[in-house]
Amino acid sequence: MDDPAGKSEPRRAKNPVRLERSGGIATIVIDNPPVNALGTAVRQGIFVALDLAEADESTKAILIAANGRTFPAGADITEFDQPAQPPELGKLCDRIEACSKPVLAALHGTVLGGGLEVAMSAHYRIAAPSTKLGLPEVKLGILPGAGGTQRTPRLVGIEHAYGLIQSGTPISASRALSIGLIDAVDEDPRGAARALAESGMDVRRTQDNRSKLSNAHEDMVLLQELRAGLDQMPGPQPATARIIDCVEGALLLPFEIGCARERDAFAECVASRDSQALRHLFLSTRKAAKFPELQGATANTPEQVAIVGGGLMGAGIALACLRAGIATTVVEDGEAGVTAALDRIGAALQRSIAKGTLSEDAGAHALTQLNLTSRITDISTADIVVETVSEDLNAKRVVLEQIGRHAKDGAVIATNSSYLDPAALAEATGRPNHFVNIHFFAPAQIMPLVEIGVAPDTHPTAVATTHALAKKLRKTPVRSAATPGLIVNRILMRLRLVADAMLEDGATPKQIDQAMRGFGFPLGPYEVLDRSGLDISYTARQRQPRDASQRYVDIGDIMVNRGWLGRKAGRGYYIYDEDRERPNTDLLAMLDELRAQRGIVPRRFKNQEIRDRIFLAIVNEAAVLLEQGVASRPSDIDVALVCGLAYPDKRGGPLHEADHDTLFAIAQRIEALEAEDTTLWRMAPLVKRLARERGKFSDLN
Ligand code: CAA
Repeated sequence: MDDPAGKSEPRRAKNPVRLERSGGIATIVIDNPPVNALGTAVRQGIFVALDLAEADESTKAILIAANGRTFPAGADITEFDQPAQPPELGKLCDRIEACSKPVLAALHGTVLGGGLEVAMSAHYRIAAPSTKLGLPEVKLGILPGAGGTQRTPRLVGIEHAYGLIQSGTPISASRALSIGLIDAVDEDPRGAARALAESGMDVRRTQDNRSKLSNAHEDMVLLQELRAGLDQMPGPQPATARIIDCVEGALLLPFEIGCARERDAFAECVASRDSQALRHLFLSTRKAAKFPELQGATANTPEQVAIVGGGLMGAGIALACLRAGIATTVVEDGEAGVTAALDRIGAALQRSIAKGTLSEDAGAHALTQLNLTSRITDISTADIVVETVSEDLNAKRVVLEQIGRHAKDGAVIATNSSYLDPAALAEATGRPNHFVNIHFFAPAQIMPLVEIGVAPDTHPTAVATTHALAKKLRKTPVRSAATPGLIVNRILMRLRLVADAMLEDGATPKQIDQAMRGFGFPLGPYEVLDRSGLDISYTARQRQPRDASQRYVDIGDIMVNRGWLGRKAGRGYYIYDEDRERPNTDLLAMLDELRAQRGIVPRRFKNQEIRDRIFLAIVNEAAVLLEQGVASRPSDIDVALVCGLAYPDKRGGPLHEADHDTLFAIAQRIEALEAEDTTLWRMAPLVKRLARERGKFSDLN
């Protein structure tokens, strides 16, 4: 029933809903590619079709079904910021449920949000086996707003309903059947629904069903426990709290009053900052994936990938490929290198199995797709070859030259370099037009971002093929100009300089890390550096020409020279023994000494001050990248930082946040820092211009 071909169906705005009649069954067919979102025209179409079908005396039952890849995947997110047009989705759901003739929903694809709310308003639900059903609204900082918080508990009980709504994670058709969300699973849901309708059936309204709400005492205890734990719940606010209120309403209040509570909560959530940020990211992620090179270019489907270098990044990328079912060759130096890479990949697979994110069978199958070898000639059948050797220009150039000799004609040759000049690497391959800087983030099997560095002369097919690989790995691709550090590491370097300056001036790594955790990052910048290794950016810093008028902080360099490389060396900003992490007191002593030698009187930084400086450093550098054309649009930078640096998604990304603060206020804050230290702060002209014109970054999207 799934129609993958529907993916390529053109969008049609006209007649997104049709009414078909045959043998006393009226079928309302939704046809609004790509995902049959319940926009105004669709809601109006269903409403009118339902009136017509119900009024027709020959109608025995009404079926709601959808063409293309899915039953509606939700309300139309792009309409959220516009004035609501009638009929509201909640009104439509009430109308469906109130219908005097039986209404059946035939489900396939991803039945999400408003789509599931429509389905729950029907009197019967039949789904194809591959259907996924869920209420992902919380991921947009909202909650189901069309009666979903009232109907779900009536179908599946409080505990399951709360789980579905608060997690936002879709469930399978078989699971939905087992908890009572749907009535049947069938390979042909439309045919099965029609057969059921023809056999004669009664109207059955979800709102009248209280059989799953009979354990009121137990359910109240559960809700009280959940409410008590609210402070520990990281979800968006106020949605996270309001979901409990609404589900409680389903238990305690009559249906209409529960719905009124839900409507108020929904309105509050839609207007909230968290929701605006999450919706901005949803739409920006999809916009970022639209590279200009894809227009008219044909991607070679990446069936085989080769990775040269099986270290931390190489193994992570290999794992991501294997999990996506791609035949993967990993080339390492000699037997020892091959064995170490196999250990790394095997251990990561085992961790995924232990966590339950991968089945034993899938893990075993992944290993059958892996070819670990020490022969570089084994890359000759790969569609994409990714070089992941150590971050050293000469070492990379030697390997890329070999890859250029052995890769097949038309193959994409990629580097995962973090900081080196892509032009110098491209040249070594002998076929720079087929070279890209594809940049994954550690751990590559988990982090969603893939930056794709494109030079003016990169062949569009190479870009399209790399993009196709990112999509196949279910990653988020973001385009960058091919310049050293691409987008994220350029910003990271700046962020680090500002953080290091605070270290030199009196802060400690722990204080900075804690402040940034308080901002919403899962790890502070020094915790991240310790994990990725201090040596990665060291060489790039040494190579970079230095502007003598600008401040340079050498703390990281001294640490590398002392062998304090981070976790892998047991010592970096912290000391690691037996998985315990404690501050590196030698480093603290070294900082005291340096300050004394350099005549710096240590000062205290408040957490808010640390956060503000780092935030402003990110925003200012992002503006520089936009001016230089490294990033195509501000929203791409937001996506890149959320997906690559784990910038807190509830903040929507730094530039979304800067717009909220206003560029005028941002410019004033940078100006104050400039006045304090001109060797560290220099306001980007773009920030200055936008502040002067009362403009926003989003104007440039
Ligand atoms: N509204 C508007 N557009 C949507 C949409 C929605 N709910 N869901 C997806 N789209 C659009 C995307 O923007 C994208 O557009 P482009 O082709 O222009 O880029 C297109 O559909 C395809 O989407 P994806 O690229 O994401 O395709 P996918 O196959 O990877 O994923 C999906 C499909 C699982 C449906 C995914 O798009 C998704 O999770 N969508 C959001 C679902 C959701 O959150 N629904 C709840 C909406 S809120 C709601 O319904 C509230 C309520 O109660 C009133």
